[in-house]
Amino acid sequence: MTVHFLRDDDLTVDAQRSVLALALDLKAGAVAPRPLEGKAVAVMFDKASTRTRVSFSVGIHELGGYPLVLDAAGTQVGRGESVEDTVRVLDRQVAAIVWRTFGQQNLDRAAAVSAVPVVNALTDEFHPCQVLADLQTVAEHRGGLAAEGPALAGRSLAYLGDGANNMAHSYLLGGVTAGMDVRIAAPAGYNPDPAVVERAREIAALTGGSVLVTTDPDEAVDGVTAVATDTWVSMGQEAEAGERESPFVPYRVDERLMARGADAVFLHCLPVYRGMEATADVVDGPRSVIWDEAENRRHAQKAVLVHLLEEAAR
Ligand code: CP
Ligand code: NVA
Repeated sequence: MTVHFLRDDDLTVDAQRSVLALALDLKAGAVAPRPLEGKAVAVMFDKASTRTRVSFSVGIHELGGYPLVLDAAGTQVGRGESVEDTVRVLDRQVAAIVWRTFGQQNLDRAAAVSAVPVVNALTDEFHPCQVLADLQTVAEHRGGLAAEGPALAGRSLAYLGDGANNMAHSYLLGGVTAGMDVRIAAPAGYNPDPAVVERAREIAALTGGSVLVTTDPDEAVDGVTAVATDTWVSMGQEAEAGERESPFVPYRVDERLMARGADAVFLHCLPVYRGMEATADVVDGPRSVIWDEAENRRHAQKAVLVHLLEEAAR
């Protein structure tokens, strides 16, 4: 059966916990699987990337495989070849397709015809590989993984800023799957997609997690384990940069907000714009775990590839 990782809720509670456990083992050097020996993985970019490009390339290499990195502009996709035709060419030659693109529907179309796993390397709607790395980072710094059930039961995460972007949506779904209390604080007009909030609440009802969507940043960070933010201007929104500043200023993560957490760690998927979504003293301060978070992309993504290849072989 071919399984895909298009959204955070494509991993069940148990699958997410075992992927995170494998990511920690990979990082510790306790295991070194090479399921991609003699195989290639396509890694395609329709948008810019530093971390995703590097972490998938190195991670695929470490799993024994060849990372075939493709930029849309250099493929026939840039000249109008369809998603379906592109995937039909790729899936006879690669073991998995990793794709960063705009609309989530592109990935849904790819998965519908692909004979190999499709992995979301960021869309406008979701960034599930990033949130897996973030959950791994919370586990490392704040209490480890549960032995069974939801991976991070009892821990909480507040995300401040653009509640309608890919990171907010992935924190909602990935966080509650891990049993976390997920709180989104965003200005009016920048709330998460109601369908994602509803789905997160459904999952939370099963895992013991919870969901709060508020306009009040203080309420969101009160007593939390982790405080996260992201750029106010995501890729593709550059034309709106002027209007995407003043509504977000009250959501800038600073020392005062961090101090309201319970010894909270600071997370940011990067790239970070110091002085905008977070102050430099927070980004570069003692609670910041952003460099571990960036490194954990590689370990978490290797773990998810191992999981998907195992499932696909069933
Ligand atoms: N966090 C993240 O996905 O970074 P890149 O855009 O550099 O890949
Ligand atoms: N929300 C950001 C994340 C970058 C990794 C964007 O989509 O540009």
